[in-house]
Amino acid sequence: MSYEIFTNQVFPEEELFDDSIEPDIAYEAIKSYLIDEGNSRQNLATFCQTYMDERVVKLMSETLAKNAIDKSEYPRTAQIESYCVNILADLWYTKEDFIGTSTVGSSEACMLGGMAMKFRWRKLAKEKGIDVLKQKPNLVISSGYQVCWEKFGVYWDVELREVPIDSKHLSMDTDRVLDYVDEYTIGIVGILGITYTGKFDDIEKLDQKVERYNKENNANLVIHIDGASGAMFTPFVDPELKWDFRLKNVVSINTSGHKYGLVYPGIGWILWRDKEYLPEELIFDVSYLGGTVPTIAINFSRSASQIIAQYYNFLQLGRKGYEEIHGTTREVAMYLAREVEKLDLFDMYNDGDNIPIVCYSLKENLNLNWNLYDLSDRLLMKGWQIPAYPLPVNMDNVIIQRMVCRADLSQPMAEEMIGDLKEAIKELNEHKVISPKDKKVQGFIH
Ligand SMILES: Cc1ncc(COP(=O)(O)O)c(C=O)c1O
Repeated sequence: MSYEIFTNQVFPEEELFDDSIEPDIAYEAIKSYLIDEGNSRQNLATFCQTYMDERVVKLMSETLAKNAIDKSEYPRTAQIESYCVNILADLWYTKEDFIGTSTVGSSEACMLGGMAMKFRWRKLAKEKGIDVLKQKPNLVISSGYQVCWEKFGVYWDVELREVPIDSKHLSMDTDRVLDYVDEYTIGIVGILGITYTGKFDDIEKLDQKVERYNKENNANLVIHIDGASGAMFTPFVDPELKWDFRLKNVVSINTSGHKYGLVYPGIGWILWRDKEYLPEELIFDVSYLGGTVPTIAINFSRSASQIIAQYYNFLQLGRKGYEEIHGTTREVAMYLAREVEKLDLFDMYNDGDNIPIVCYSLKENLNLNWNLYDLSDRLLMKGWQIPAYPLPVNMDNVIIQRMVCRADLSQPMAEEMIGDLKEAIKELNEHKVISPKDKKVQGFIH
């Protein structure tokens, strides 16, 4: 290999080259092409895992060829998937007739959860004599939902009824939620960790409201929990908080294994408290893989290595390991929040206590010549990706900035980041900054 590769390697951009090149050259060329993409450890925009132990990475690369859907060929892998489902069922307090599956992420899991509610609603509505074609079914959710729910509405023709967040209710307004419910409502989604701010919906109160509604109206309204970020964090750091299957009307829960399940991107989970909440039409038996094993999935083929990695984490870390890792991440987040608050420039929206997210807006009337977008830009110069963006409709005049802490953000790194933040603010205060007027979002938030 020579230095030439860095200067002379050309890449097929529109069509294949006729000739092959040496594998070593292809490897080095692509590796060096990707090298300046940003340091994922400094990316505080994402909840997705950016570190895994090298042993599990080895295990993942050794199992990449296993196809998760092919449960007949890989029965042990299928068994591992069901062990993971059992472990999550235990963490979320359901014991007997539960059913669940791995997915590509929370997005696929939310699609399945939403469809299960839709199919179940349609069957029950028909039995009650409701004309199910008269109007679109609807799903009730706080306006702080993640884009996957908007996709769900579009793909499956379901109206999203948004309970608006406002300055008093930064998560679902449980006093108003039932105003949005009618006989065409397939269910309510409670969010354990609103993407924008990390706030939790008050699921226990929501459950009480639904319970009363069902009694008074002889209805079967159900709750799905979108626990993309919270459902694998809260059980370890705040086990007393009831948001899960301990609540009677919570019938399904999704989470992202690649967030606080501590696996690299590509895995989610969904569980139903009882098989009755997963209509049979959504379970498919395929015979052409040799043997018939039921599957619940929108996607078909994908590598099983993520499922295996999830199980490795469960086996290796155990309950104590998760408690320690998440507890430390929470301490780092709370440290960051304290330091940010001390600067006396920001109104805090999340201090890292529920999930390790620090979220704030600039105080009003500070008369600064810079805004949070400028601060994001300055931090990016030091490698930190800390996005600024508006809150959802109704509060979109408020611009916030969000730091998502993950296990690989150590206390020393956090201290370094606070140093860089202070320096960025000093520079902004001392220099005139001109930023484009129409700048809406800095960074990709998910
Ligand atoms: C509340 C919520 N739901 C769903 C998703 C989608 O998750 P995934 O990236 O695992 O598909 C996210 C992602 O951030 C989220 O925060």
